Amino acid sequence: MTVSIIGGTGPQGKGLALRLAMAGSKVVIGSRDEAKATTVAADIVSFLAERGCKADVSGASMEAATQAASKMVILSVPYSAHDVTLTTLAPLLVDKILIDIVVPLAAGNPKAVDMPDAGSVTESAQAILGDSIPVVGALHNVSAVTLNDLSSPINCDILVCGNDLAAKKDVMALCQQMEMQAYNAGLAESARCIEALTPILIRLNMSKDVPFSHAGIRICPPDHHGHD
Ligand SMILES: NC(=O)c1ccc[n+]([C@@H]2O[C@H](COP(=O)([O-])OP(=O)(O)OC[C@H]3O[C@@H](n4cnc5c(N)ncnc54)[C@H](OP(=O)(O)O)[C@@H]3O)[C@@H](O)[C@H]2O)c1
Repeated sequence: MTVSIIGGTGPQGKGLALRLAMAGSKVVIGSRDEAKATTVAADIVSFLAERGCKADVSGASMEAATQAASKMVILSVPYSAHDVTLTTLAPLLVDKILIDIVVPLAAGNPKAVDMPDAGSVTESAQAILGDSIPVVGALHNVSAVTLNDLSSPINCDILVCGNDLAAKKDVMALCQQMEMQAYNAGLAESARCIEALTPILIRLNMSKDVPFSHAGIRICPPDHHGHD
């Protein structure tokens, strides 16, 4: 399976490329600058080779990367570039699933959101692409630092939302392959809550009052064994 990551030259996309490649997926990194994508891809391949993992990661233009995906395309660009990038790529996304990970952080303030008129970025994406191309919102709450740090397990569960159940199941399976627990969090409008959680995590991570950074979220089932 080939998964493409548009904006995969940034820290979040690179981390996902690393995790997907380790899980055995072929990855194509899409960039506005094909040479930059090729360099980033080669760096990931040699980083993993040094750790005994043979990875298949390559770089391409955003358009070629979108076309190369067997099914799933991850959009990992800044919020300010979301709508214009997606509008350009829309004709190439027919018969694919768009995985939208973009968080609508307020300009100049990563501790706040600036939600789009559609309600959330995921809903904006669905409006841009139309109902025939499924959009799945996911991976908004996991930090790039965690994704790029292979020394410890990923400390974040993934809340997955969207209007197409089959597409959500595909994305949940992809998250499980990357060793992240994924949950179906409902329709696309659930993204209003999920996307808005990230600046709260950023606030905590920046706070001097907590002894950690790069925190994720966890769904904690009750410990029934403790109450037997
Ligand atoms: N960083 C995190 O910890 C984290 C956590 C959760 C979610 N996210 C979300 O994941 C997305 C990517 O995060 P990031 O930190 O990797 O972002 P980033 O480094 O700011 O941007 C990612 C890539 O997007 C491309 N890009 C930048 N400006 C663009 C523009 N005007 N038009 C088209 N493409 C542009 C660049 O690739 P090229 O120059 O190669 O084209 C860049 O490397 C964001 O939406 C963010 O909200 C991030």
